[in-house]
Amino acid sequence: MNDRLLRTARRQPTDTTPVWLMRQAGRYLPEYRAIRGNIAFLDLCKNPDLAAEVTVQPVTRLGVDAAIIFSDILIPVEAMGIHLELGDKGPHFPNPLRTAADIDKLGVPDPVEGTGFVAEAIRRTRKALNDSVPVIGFAGAPFTLAAYMVEGGGSKSYIVIKRLLFEQPELAHRLFQKLTDTLIPYLKMQVEAGASIVQIFDSWGGELSPYDFERFSLPYLTRMVTELKATGVPVILFGTNMTPHLPLLKRTGADVIGLDWRVNVDEGRRILGPDVATQGNLDPLHLFLPREELDARVKDILGRAGPIGHIFNLGHGILPPSDPDAAKFLVDAVHRHGTALRQGIALR
Ligand code: CP3
Repeated sequence: MNDRLLRTARRQPTDTTPVWLMRQAGRYLPEYRAIRGNIAFLDLCKNPDLAAEVTVQPVTRLGVDAAIIFSDILIPVEAMGIHLELGDKGPHFPNPLRTAADIDKLGVPDPVEGTGFVAEAIRRTRKALNDSVPVIGFAGAPFTLAAYMVEGGGSKSYIVIKRLLFEQPELAHRLFQKLTDTLIPYLKMQVEAGASIVQIFDSWGGELSPYDFERFSLPYLTRMVTELKATGVPVILFGTNMTPHLPLLKRTGADVIGLDWRVNVDEGRRILGPDVATQGNLDPLHLFLPREELDARVKDILGRAGPIGHIFNLGHGILPPSDPDAAKFLVDAVHRHGTALRQGIALR
C-alpha cells in the first residue's frame, strides 16, 4: 500500500509529501456529476456500490495518496432521529432542535443498524482500490453538528447555537454528550470496516472564542480523539478559522491538526510544536490561479512545512467550479516538489 499518508501522520519519513483534497469526490468532477445526475445526494451516500465508485474517482483521476469515504458529516445525525434534507442550498433540517424535549428525544443509534451502509461502502472501496491507498473515515465534531441541528442549516451569525450555549449551557452539554456517544461508535465502525485513519471535521468551531471553544468543543473532541487513537489509527483534527485555537487543539492529542490558509504553515507548526503533524493549507481559490502562480504557492507551503509530518491539502473543501485539470496539476506539483525537497534540491 502507498502508506505516505499514514507515515506522515506519525511523523515518519517518506519519499515525498502525501496529498489529498477535502471534498475530492464531488461536483467539480464530470464523472461524479454523471452518477449524481441520476440519484439524490443522500441516496448516493446510502448506496454502498455507488458511494464506493465515487470515492475511487478522484484517486484514479488525480493520483491522490488517499481516498476519503464518500458520505456526509450529517449522516449519523439523521440516524439519531432528526429529519435531514440536502438540497441545492446545502443541508437543511426542517424541524431544528429548539427545546429540551427536542434534544431529549434524540436517540443514540447503534452504528451498524443506523449507518451500516457507511461500513459497507468502506469495505467495497477497499476492495475496489485493491489497497493501493488508505481509506480515510470521518465524522463531524459535536459542536459543528449541533450548530447545524439547532440553526436548521448553515448560518452567518450562529445566533441560535450560541444562545443555546450561553442561555442553557447544561442543555447544550447534554446535546454534545449525545452526539459524542453517537460519533465514537460510528467512527470505530468505520475503522473496523477498513478505514486506516480518521478525520474529525470541526468546520465551525472557529466561530467560538477560545474561552468557549475550551468549554463547549474541546472536551468532546478530546474524548473522540482519545477513544479513536486507542483503536490504533491516527486521528486528523480539522477546522477553519482556528489559528487562535491551535494551542487548545494540541491538547486533544490528535496526531494531525489542520491549518487553513489564514496562517503560514511554519507559524502554525511553531505554535503546535514538534510532536504534531499538520495538514493543509492551500486556499481552495488558488486553484484558479495561473499554473505558475499555483506552482509557486505549492512550493511556498512545502518549503515552510519541511519534509517531515506535513500532509498537503486545501485549507477547506474544493469548490464545484474548480477545474479538475488544475487539481491534477496540484497533486503532481506536490509530489514533484516534495521529492526534490527530500533530495535537498532547491525547489524551482
Ligand atoms: O471530502 C470528500 O470527498 C468526502 C465527502 C464529504 C462530503 N461532505 C460530500 C458532500 C465530506 C468529508 C463532507 C463533510 C462535510 N459536510 C462538512 C465538513 C467539511 C467542510 O466543508 O467544512 C460539512 C460542513 C458538511 C455539510 C454539507 N454537506 C454542506 C455544507 C453541503 C453543501 C455544500 C455544497 O457544496 O453544496 C453538503 C453536501 C455535500 N457533501 C456535497 C458533497 C459532495 C454536495 C452534494 C451534491 O452532490 O449536491
